[in-house]
Amino acid sequence: MRRAAITGWGRCTPDPVLTNDDLASVMDTSDEWITTRSGIKERRVSPAENSDMATVAASHALAAAGLEAEDIDYIMVATCTGDRQIPATACRVQDKLGATNAAALDVNAGCTGFIYGLNLANGLIAAGSAERVLLIGSERITPFLDLEERSTAVLFGDGAGAAVIEAARGEEGLRSINVGSDGTIADVLTCQGVGSSYIGEPPVPIRIVMDGTALFRAAVLGMTAAAEKAITDAGWTGDDVDLVFPHQANIRIIDATVRRLDVDDAKVYTNIASYGNTSAASIPLALSEALDAGRVEPGAKLILVGFGAGLTWGAAGIVWGDRVEPITTSDAALPPTDKTGLQIIMERQALRSA
Ligand code: UT7
Repeated sequence: MRRAAITGWGRCTPDPVLTNDDLASVMDTSDEWITTRSGIKERRVSPAENSDMATVAASHALAAAGLEAEDIDYIMVATCTGDRQIPATACRVQDKLGATNAAALDVNAGCTGFIYGLNLANGLIAAGSAERVLLIGSERITPFLDLEERSTAVLFGDGAGAAVIEAARGEEGLRSINVGSDGTIADVLTCQGVGSSYIGEPPVPIRIVMDGTALFRAAVLGMTAAAEKAITDAGWTGDDVDLVFPHQANIRIIDATVRRLDVDDAKVYTNIASYGNTSAASIPLALSEALDAGRVEPGAKLILVGFGAGLTWGAAGIVWGDRVEPITTSDAALPPTDKTGLQIIMERQALRSA
């Protein structure tokens, strides 16, 4: 059976930074609370559309794989913060890239969207229905945050990460993957005010709300079980694993998960301090950053593990190929902006209260 392998990687991290101190200057919180409870120091705020970030990340991934946009036959955008309800953000990315030969769809599995997308891409490739899939995790989540909801407003940030997925040529590629969901506890993480259920009803403010404590517990159990299964199904032990890419929701969730896995702390990649929780973007963003920093060795055994709204979870075991350098590079970037992260969120908050 044909196995899927990641042959290109890229990311987009918007320039405007929003620090914990910025947040503490406009709401009842502190750098100390956010840092000790979550591990986050700052996050990015995108003035550009979700599909713009996705397109930048995708352009870097295509260049890294040595491909043109026309070579792609399937685009998936894993997101829960798409540009619009209709059409799929992937269709707008297809247009912005000029990927004229690609089918396009969005995958909404919350923060687990990239793992779900990987599972689908693997199935398409194994069945011979696609040769080159472009999978992008992209979230512009800051517009959905309400500064009056302090327990969520401090946790999330914007960003995108992308992967080109092709049929494996050698030993490399996906060795295991599992995904799951439990809709009975769907309401512990939800976005109020957007969706057909709200139309024709009394207006509700648009904002993400969550039961952090319930999610915390479910995330540790879900990520541990998914990662353990991915390790076992790949025929590995914890010792065999070279690098783990956990979803970056909370450093304490990551630490608690890793303690339960038989994997050394030094093998866990984290960048939550710089970007916060970027939902479906967090895993591909981290993977791209790690590759560019030389953290992924040829033939490395990787575990990707996620958890999020739905509730959903999933994990994958991947053997990386021989190539850890991009074939070519792209100069794609978001349009420059003079605005700070704080300015952007305060302008939005003013419109919310108007
Ligand atoms: O991406 C997947 C989905 N997301 C997650 O998996 C997130 C899961 N949950 C979490 O990361 C954590 O539960 C949080 C970071 C959300 C909260 O951490 P916690 O240690 O569970 O804190 P808590 O909810 O128990 O809140 C403790 C206190 C409360 O005050 P009282 O009632 O003890 O007086 C909150 O009101 O902290 C207060 N608090 C804050 N204080 C300062 C809540 N948010 C803030 C804030 N700044 N931003």
